[in-house]
Amino acid sequence: MRHGTKVLDRSPPALPNVQGMSEINEILVGIDESEQSTAAVLWAAEEAGRRGATLRIVNVAGPWLEWESSDARVLEAREWLARGGQNALERVAAAARERVPGLEVVTEQAPGQPAGVLVERGANALMTVVGSHGVGRLAGALVGSVAFQVVTHARGPAVVVQHHGGAAYGEVAVAVDGSEVAAAAIDFAFEAASLRGARLRAVLAWEEPMPLGGAALGPIIYEAYEDGSVQERELAEALAGRRERYPDVEVVAEVVPGRPVRVLTGVSARADLLVLGSRGRGGFKGLLLGSVGQAMVNRSHCPLAIVHPPQN
Ligand SMILES: Nc1ncnc2c1ncn2[C@@H]1O[C@H](COP(=O)(O)OP(=O)(O)O)[C@@H](O)[C@H]1O
Ligand SMILES: [Mg+2]
Repeated sequence: MRHGTKVLDRSPPALPNVQGMSEINEILVGIDESEQSTAAVLWAAEEAGRRGATLRIVNVAGPWLEWESSDARVLEAREWLARGGQNALERVAAAARERVPGLEVVTEQAPGQPAGVLVERGANALMTVVGSHGVGRLAGALVGSVAFQVVTHARGPAVVVQHHGGAAYGEVAVAVDGSEVAAAAIDFAFEAASLRGARLRAVLAWEEPMPLGGAALGPIIYEAYEDGSVQERELAEALAGRRERYPDVEVVAEVVPGRPVRVLTGVSARADLLVLGSRGRGGFKGLLLGSVGQAMVNRSHCPLAIVHPPQN
């Protein structure tokens, strides 16, 4: 049927549903009825405003949301349970619209396991945003379990917001360790800085290794490391290309001696956003969230973005 081929048949095949290719211009934020999730919504609303993206606010309710019954009391209970989440959705959607006039906001209540639903729904979003804690917060507890599961399993960037609305420092920080995964984080950070008109601080924290063979071996093995030249080069290589792509972004690149978690915690106290790769050089391929990321979700003083590499 060569001659019968219609023009339409020659159009390229539809793009496969691969993350990065089917990205939708939407920021997903998960909420329960807590204050932290309101902070997450406001942060996400501003970010969506900067990107001209839609804000999708999702409240995940239990499986009871889908209960069907001929018993009116069951349905009444279901309605009553659902109402709490719906009220929260209406409240935060109004707050988001007030914060960013003209923002397109979509709300949704979905049944299921909260983190699983958020990870699934966020797979093609620009990013997934959660609060650091929720209604289940325990005094002195580390980051909440939904938040932790989302940043661990997210495909693409996930942001944890502790609180929002403090001082603006005009700075986005990114942790660089020379790993491949950090490249996605660096791209995300440049974009975030450019969107905010902020400076980008790229930090390579370097912990002096303890020479196993005693001090005598130190000078031989670590000489180049000690004067920082190896790290400076690594940092420069990691940033290469982006400076040209984002000429508007002022970059401060620093090699800082010290334990990464301690250094980054300090950096986070003076930044509007801290960006990390999901795992670093020390992490193996299947590792979903490296040790620095795990520690920083509990310690960051500012919103923390964990950027998972696309194929994850
Ligand atoms: N049922 C839910 N639906 C959607 N998002 C949720 C839900 N529960 C928690 N989240 C999100 O995760 C964040 C952290 O909550 P969570 O991890 O449950 O902490 P906690 O253990 O303190 O309740 C919340 O601020 C919210 O952004
Ligand atoms: Mg909770």
